[in-house]
Amino acid sequence: MEFVLYEVKDAVGIITINREKALNALNSQVLDELSATLDGVDLNAVRCLILTGAGEKSFVAGADIGEMSTLSKAEGEAFGKKGNDVFLKLEKFPIPVIAAVNGFALGGGCEISMSCDIRICSDNAMFGQPEVGLGITPGFGGTQRLARLVGAGMAKQMIYTARNIKADEALRIGLVNAVYPQAELMDAALKMANGIAAQAPIAVRNCKKAINEGLQVSIDEGVAIEEKLFGDCFETEDQKAGMGNFLKKKDDPTKVKVVSFQNK
Ligand code: CAA
Repeated sequence: MEFVLYEVKDAVGIITINREKALNALNSQVLDELSATLDGVDLNAVRCLILTGAGEKSFVAGADIGEMSTLSKAEGEAFGKKGNDVFLKLEKFPIPVIAAVNGFALGGGCEISMSCDIRICSDNAMFGQPEVGLGITPGFGGTQRLARLVGAGMAKQMIYTARNIKADEALRIGLVNAVYPQAELMDAALKMANGIAAQAPIAVRNCKKAINEGLQVSIDEGVAIEEKLFGDCFETEDQKAGMGNFLKKKDDPTKVKVVSFQNK
């Protein structure tokens, strides 16, 4: 792959968008490579993903403006669908994805971070949806996910004014969960990812599914989704190991050990 790097450290997969010269802007090739990278993740071995950008300046500076500049109406719609398909794949990916936002996250960059489960960022990060300044709407889900994440009022302000916000403001409005010095961002992302990877993997996947699917429906339907996924956990070996360990610990504190979950 030319523009996407993938490496695995223990049970964590790290995807790096690697088009530093263009501040990791998303052209069609990057989107295709991202999609193929996700298809290639070994879900038996990897329990959490981190998504980041190459270099220290930019996470993703948006969709590629050069590529978009000559699109017709139909081509524009198709380009939007192309991005949306990849971002939906990321959002619905069975295991959690942490966006480690290491700089500019503008337009499609902000949008791809919002397709991830969790966002943390470096102190030089900048978020925004500058599209209306380019004569377009956000096209990779920004109008939908920003409003869901930070509320309609704040999303509308950001999108209508095209004003970028710095890391501290992104933290204040709940767009990111934490801000780190640039040099510490990847360690923090890895620590969080390893913490997730140490939990019962089927239970973690079911939590992701329950939260994502539950947010689209009424509370009654949402709790019904949770009940089903909760029930499914009782067929797993990991549930027996996790609860068995707790009970052993109660009987005899010397028997405490960290459970090594088997993804079964
Ligand atoms: N598309 C294509 N190329 C981009 C790009 C983008 N979104 N963002 C940056 N680049 C390229 C620049 O053209 C430049 O390339 P050259 O060296 O070949 O000229 C290189 O990256 C470095 O960029 P700058 O020289 O502009 O760097 P800077 O530090 O002066 O500015 C910046 C950084 C503020 C992020 C500025 O590059 C910028 O404003 N980029 C565009 C951000 C933007 O508007 N993003 C939204 C795109 S629209 C979108 O994403 C639609 C959607 O929802 C699908």
